[in-house]
Amino acid sequence: MFNLFRKKKEEKPKGSQYLSLKIREVVRETPDTVTLFFEQPEPYLDYKAGQFLTVILDIDGKEVRRSYSLCTSPFMDPHPGITIKRVKDGLVSNFLNDKMFPGKTITILKPMGNFTTDLHSKNRRHFTMIAAGSGITPVMGIIKSLLVNEPESKITLLYCSRSEDQIIFKKPLEDLQGKYPQLDVVHNLTQPSDSWKGLRGRIDAEKIKEVLSTRAYPEAESKKFYLCGPEALMATAKDTLLAIGERKEDIIQESFYTSASEDAGDPTAQGVGEVPELARTVLVMLEGQEYSFEVTPDKTILEAGLDEDLDMPYSCQSGLCTACMGKLVSGEVKMDEDAGLSESEKEEGYILCCVSRPMSGDVKIAIE
Ligand SMILES: Cc1cc2nc3c(=O)[nH]c(=O)nc-3n(C[C@H](O)[C@H](O)[C@H](O)COP(=O)(O)OP(=O)(O)OC[C@H]3O[C@@H](n4cnc5c(N)ncnc54)[C@H](O)[C@@H]3O)c2cc1C
Ligand code: FES
Repeated sequence: MFNLFRKKKEEKPKGSQYLSLKIREVVRETPDTVTLFFEQPEPYLDYKAGQFLTVILDIDGKEVRRSYSLCTSPFMDPHPGITIKRVKDGLVSNFLNDKMFPGKTITILKPMGNFTTDLHSKNRRHFTMIAAGSGITPVMGIIKSLLVNEPESKITLLYCSRSEDQIIFKKPLEDLQGKYPQLDVVHNLTQPSDSWKGLRGRIDAEKIKEVLSTRAYPEAESKKFYLCGPEALMATAKDTLLAIGERKEDIIQESFYTSASEDAGDPTAQGVGEVPELARTVLVMLEGQEYSFEVTPDKTILEAGLDEDLDMPYSCQSGLCTACMGKLVSGEVKMDEDAGLSESEKEEGYILCCVSRPMSGDVKIAIE
């Protein structure tokens, strides 16, 4: 890295993207899911329901980062919270399930993400939420915000879990339904007990169509569909909605993980296409300073920046969360994966540094 001020990671400026949150309460939701509620920092945590925090931990001397959606609503919950489901052999999800306690402080990146909604008391909309497993987390926050702010909007939640004891937020959802008649919760279990009376088996197109047709809200002025769960479920739901004539722009989805995640950052992975043949110098503008460094063909721009000890923001490192988003001011980059960006963000020239490689010698990126 040359001709620059060197901003090392340990020189984290106050008031930038980092925050410290103290755990107030640890609530076990299911045998493999935990919610961490935080004390409100000073000033209060500014977030929209549905956004996520990037948790930064030191595990065995190595910094690791993961994204976790806020399960709370600023309109209903005095304390912000995130809900973490164990992933088999997962490093961070198991650490957070096992090692957290009230009083412990953890570092986060300020809330980010576009899986949110605008709110207005005069709106009369029909929201259909389709979630599975930990995908209920951001949906829960959005539901709560809608219930408080849009009394004439109706919400149908189709929520898929494995078995009765794996249903996250079972009791809170029942309580909300009891208090707010505009919320309708339909549980679906893939491996229920014999006594289960609700929907069972995989969620397929027929099931989605049936739930939609039996819960129509003809008085609604508009419809919105929020999807959060495994890739295959979201693809089925989206295809079904489009096939019955719903508009693409009314379908909003959040991916926690895709099979492509494991390939992100690997230039030889299938589907990446053209990869740079040369090492190229890239200029990054970050918090009012300019940094220039070389990116070799085997690295993404984020990886090269982190190798130089540059404090670039990031979280998932797989093109999903947008924490590493920057605006391409000049030059050309190739993104291995762009699912995290909306069409308008792409049109405005935004890129994801964790999956971008320079394709010309004049790449300049502004990170806000
Ligand atoms: C925007 C965003 C929001 C998220 N919100 C939440 C949330 O609210 N709650 C929550 O529990 N998680 C959430 N996640 C997922 C979370 O960030 C981690 O990916 C997850 O906890 C696994 O991390 P790990 O360190 O335990 O697993 P790793 O050690 O990273 O991975 C272990 C193994 O599991 C596989 N794997 C990783 N993640 C998953 C997954 N989600 N499903 C299946 N296999 C996986 C990996 O390929 C690897 O083989 C979110 C992710 C994103 C991008
Ligand atoms: S770090 Fe998540 S999209 Fe790049």
